[in-house]
Amino acid sequence: MTATPFPSIDAAAGVLAAGGLVILPTETVYGLAALAADQHAVARLYEAKGRPAFNPLICHVSDLAMAERLADLDDRARALAAAFWPGALTLVVPIAATAQVCDLARAGLATVALRAPRHPMAQALIAAVGAPLVAPSANRSGRPSPTTLADALAETGFAAGAALDGGPCAVGLESTVVACLPGAPARILRPGGVPRADIEAVIGPLAPDGGDGVGSPGRLARHYAPCAPLRLNALAPRPGEAFIAFGPAGDTPLTFQLSESGDLAEAASRLFSLLRAADAARPPAIAVAPIPGHGLGEAINDRLRRAAGFVG
Ligand code: TXA
Ligand code: MG
Repeated sequence: MTATPFPSIDAAAGVLAAGGLVILPTETVYGLAALAADQHAVARLYEAKGRPAFNPLICHVSDLAMAERLADLDDRARALAAAFWPGALTLVVPIAATAQVCDLARAGLATVALRAPRHPMAQALIAAVGAPLVAPSANRSGRPSPTTLADALAETGFAAGAALDGGPCAVGLESTVVACLPGAPARILRPGGVPRADIEAVIGPLAPDGGDGVGSPGRLARHYAPCAPLRLNALAPRPGEAFIAFGPAGDTPLTFQLSESGDLAEAASRLFSLLRAADAARPPAIAVAPIPGHGLGEAINDRLRRAAGFVG
């Protein structure tokens, strides 16, 4: 299948209704979308990504009303949705008995991950379809998430019947995944575009991290990875290495700047595209400057540790 260039929203909705896949811009990263209820399309989506079927997908909704039809949201989930939707927050909540989300999309779990994206094209496509869309990041499994249409097409364009161009992603990191499940304190399953402190400001302290992979099947140790090995917390590149800088950097060749001024939001928006750019030079390794751990730095460091193959 070849993606139609510059399709309309209606044409893209038609591709989905016919069981096809669509490359979809969101404000976090590009996704590869399918109808959440369509078991066959979802199976093809897993295949296109080379994704293990035990790793469930995020279901994208237009708003809280659509979310309430799919799942049982408690007061914490509703407060977080009110504060951060549309936006870079995913809620893992108990699935409703009537929900039109196929088993495969949930990897058989009794929970579902829900997000209302902010990007106008994502909103328009969900509205045109009138049903939830699953959309994992549009990369092949284990690779950096695409933050431009060109990167998305290079990863999974072969499997898409249409691809929407929404420009470069403003956030550049995937959503923060928060579990709000009965009888358990809310916890972050994946740090992302909404910082921990912002979430705690709405619902109070979160459960401490229970170690890697707890409750989130998709947290593989090596993930988001370019081809070249990464060397983290490097103050300067070694000869031949590419260097991903944060803050003022010397004039070394193959230096890629996350943020000259040390702005974490700017660094997040550039992270994946700079990993690709550094990798394209085929260096023996990519050295990465230290990034502070506060705010969006938690998610940036999480992605870097995984791209380097360390369990975070
Ligand atoms: O920003 C994003 O979240 C992007 C855009 C396209 O929306 N999507 C994305 O999807 O990153 P994906 O499939 O690459 O990551 C989904 C994450 C995985 O870590 C998965 O394990 C977790 O959400 N997840 C999904 N359903 C879950 C569930 N029922 N319980 C626990 N974790 C779940
Ligand atoms: Mg992903």
